[in-house]
Order: sequence, then C-alpha cells, then structure tokens
Amino acid sequence: MANTMMMMDGCEDSRGKRRRTNGAVALLLAVGMLLLGAPLANAQMDDIDRARRMHDRLAGVPPDATTLSDMATQIGLGRADLAAEIAMRNPNFYNVVLKNFITPWTNEAQTVFAPLNDYTATVIGMIRDDVPFNLILSEDIIYTGANGVVSPNFQQTSNAHYEALEDDGIDLSDPALLIRRTQSGLPGSQLSPSDAAGVLTTRAAAEAFFVDGTNRAMWRFTAINHLCRDMEELKDITRPGDRIRQDVNRSPGGDSQIYLNTCFGCHAGMDALAGAFAYFDWDEDQGRMVHTPGVVQDKYLQNGNVFPFGYITTDNSWINYWREGQNSTLGWRGPTDRGFGPKSLGAEVASTRAFSVCQVEKVFQQVCFRGPRDQADRDAIEAIADDFEANGTYRMKSVFAAVAEHCMND
Ligand code: HEC
Repeated sequence: MANTMMMMDGCEDSRGKRRRTNGAVALLLAVGMLLLGAPLANAQMDDIDRARRMHDRLAGVPPDATTLSDMATQIGLGRADLAAEIAMRNPNFYNVVLKNFITPWTNEAQTVFAPLNDYTATVIGMIRDDVPFNLILSEDIIYTGANGVVSPNFQQTSNAHYEALEDDGIDLSDPALLIRRTQSGLPGSQLSPSDAAGVLTTRAAAEAFFVDGTNRAMWRFTAINHLCRDMEELKDITRPGDRIRQDVNRSPGGDSQIYLNTCFGCHAGMDALAGAFAYFDWDEDQGRMVHTPGVVQDKYLQNGNVFPFGYITTDNSWINYWREGQNSTLGWRGPTDRGFGPKSLGAEVASTRAFSVCQVEKVFQQVCFRGPRDQADRDAIEAIADDFEANGTYRMKSVFAAVAEHCMND
C-alpha cells in the first residue's frame, strides 16, 4: 500500500508540472469540448473528476458548470488548494458541511442529529472569518444572528434563536446575517471577558457537559473533541493524586489496589484540571448556564463523606499534572502548567501539538470519509498541522483545502 501511494505521488508531480505549462491551452480545450459536449481527453477528465469529488466533499452538493470548470482549471495548474477555496464559497459548506462536522462535538452522544446551537454557530463563524482556531477554547467570542434576522434574538435561557436560524435557512456564510459578538456583552451574561472561554462557556456546552455530574464531563469531552483522546488513553497512575476529590472511593469494593491501579490513573490528572470549572453549572429549571464567581458549586463538594481526606475544592484553580509522564507527548507549549478558570485552561489545551493534529485528523475524516491508513497519510497530517500552526494563523479553511487536495484522487 505504501508503495502504491508513493508511485501515485510520483505521477502527481510529473503530471502537475506538465499541466502548469499547458494550463491555459487545456482550459480552452476543456471549455470548448464541454460546450460541444464532446468527450474530454483523459487528462482533463481526471481534473474534472477531481474537481467534482472535491466539491461534493466540501460543499455537499454537485458544482454548477462554471464552478466545475474553474476548479478543474486550478487543479490543472497545480493549485488544488485554490480549487478547494472556490468550493468553500458555496453557502452549503457552512450551513450543511460545517454544521454536520461540528455538531457531534456539542453533545454527549456525539450525534450529528441535533439542531444548530451557539457552540456550532460560533465555530462556523470562526472558520468563515479565519479567526485563529487556537482561540476556540479561550476567546470571549460567540456568533449569533444579526439583530432581527430571526425571532427570537439570542437568549441565555433557550436555543430557540439558533433553531430559528436553521429553520429559516439563514445563510451562515453571509457576514451580515451571522455576526461575531462577545459572550460577556450578551444580554443576561454572567461572564466577564476574563471568564469567557470560547466554546467551553457556550450555552450548548454547558447544557451537555455541566448538566448533573461533577463537571468532569466538560474536561472529558474537551479532550475527546479537541485533543482526540479519551480518558482511557490519558490515564496515568504515576501523577500526584493530591487533587482527587472526596467523592472518589479510595478502596472500591474494599480493595485499595483497584483505586491505585485504575481510578487513580484518570482522577489524578482529570480532577486537577476540572477544578477550572468550579464556578459553573447548568441550571435545568432556568435552562441556562450559571456562573458564580468565587463560589464553588455544590457538585464539587458532594459525597464528601466517601473519603473525607480527599481534595476539597476551594476555588477555580487548575493544575496540569499531565504535562509530565506519558502525556508529555501531547506537546504542551502554554506559558504555565497552572491557572484559574476555563480561559487559561482552554489556552493550555489549544497550545498543544495534539490540538493541532486533532483538528487536522477530524477534517481528514470528514473530507476523505476515512481515517489515515498509511505512513503517507500520517505524514500529510503532520505537514498540514505544521502549516496550520505556522505564524499562528491556525486557519481552518486551509486545513480543509490541504486535506481535500491530499485525497482528491480517492
Ligand atoms: C478511564 C478514566 C476513569 C477511571 C479509570 C475512573 N474514572 Fe471516575 N470518572 C471519570 C470521568 C470521565 C468522570 C465524569 C463522568 C461524567 O460525569 O460524565 C468520572 C466520575 C466519577 C465520579 C463522579 C460520579 C458522579 O456523580 O458524576 C466518581 C465518584 C468517580 N468517577 C469515581 C471513580 C472510582 C471509584 C473509580 C475506580 C473504581 C473511577 N472513578 C475510575 C473517569 C474515570
């Protein structure tokens, strides 16, 4: 398989060079033959096929004739990235493809079958406006419909605004209709600019991951969705356990070995990180996220009698014990291994190499309809992640374009 891929890559190079020289002629021929309905020569036909495939994957719909020929021309000129940019101008890229890409990150079941919400809309807007994607977990940012575009306007206590945007088919690619705002500036917000932490403090994330439980779910799903790792993979029994809360039994079933060999591996690292969310909760009755600066939520102190000598949460501090040990391979590059609240924690997560590679892997799965299967795929993912990080641009559309080019022959 690796050999085949290398041979295909080799062919690509020589074909690409030849086409660059003959690009203009090829375009004229292709357009002429399209008009005449004549069969196309193989080379141009390949580019038309590539263009159609790329458009289907990025826009979710077939291209019109002009778009198809513009894209095929760019591919012929060796600029498949520009062909992808053309496809991404289709509103369907935002309203359908990105919506389906992001929706599973916003609920515990990881289902795509959920309405538009503030988390999804915010990520769509950030991708559209080329907001550096590493701000997704820390910026005071939210996208809403412009005032009066739909009824109701944004509400803290309901998702109806976003459902109306979806039901009315509002074009999310239009900067006049879906607009960037701050979470702290929204009516009814309980967040200051230094509390708002990108998608972590959206209403949808709160409903999904602050509901019930102990707010550890917010950490778990942040790791799944933005580091591409679940707790099974992260657990490490060599880290300090001083932050493990009182509710975790130190000898489940009377066996302290179970605690030390299993529970400890997840809870040592996770409990120290999830402290960041200590002032947050989801209020089911009001249907909103609540933020109580300086006041630790009861859920952090529940079941304190299980192990009274366990950690008692007194503030919203977090410590990243996973910077060392096996999880040092995630490539932590943030300013410090500790802080207060979700904003600095979000920045800590998004600064990792694992975050960058995870975004590329998700796009790969979305656009190529498969995961990486050989070394050539894995090398491509690393190279695209390098470009993603270069100069701090973190431009997601470039990731979509590069991935679409990588698998345009499949
Ligand atoms: C693979 C990682 C992992 C291991 C191992 C693990 N936990 Fe957890 N634990 C979690 C996660 C994640 C949550 C949060 C679950 C949620 O709210 O969705 C959690 C939640 C809890 C909670 C809070 C439950 C509640 O009311 O929401 C307790 C108590 C707990 N774990 C105890 C234990 C004990 C005792 C063990 C060992 C027998 C253990 N855990 C092993 C990851 C782990």
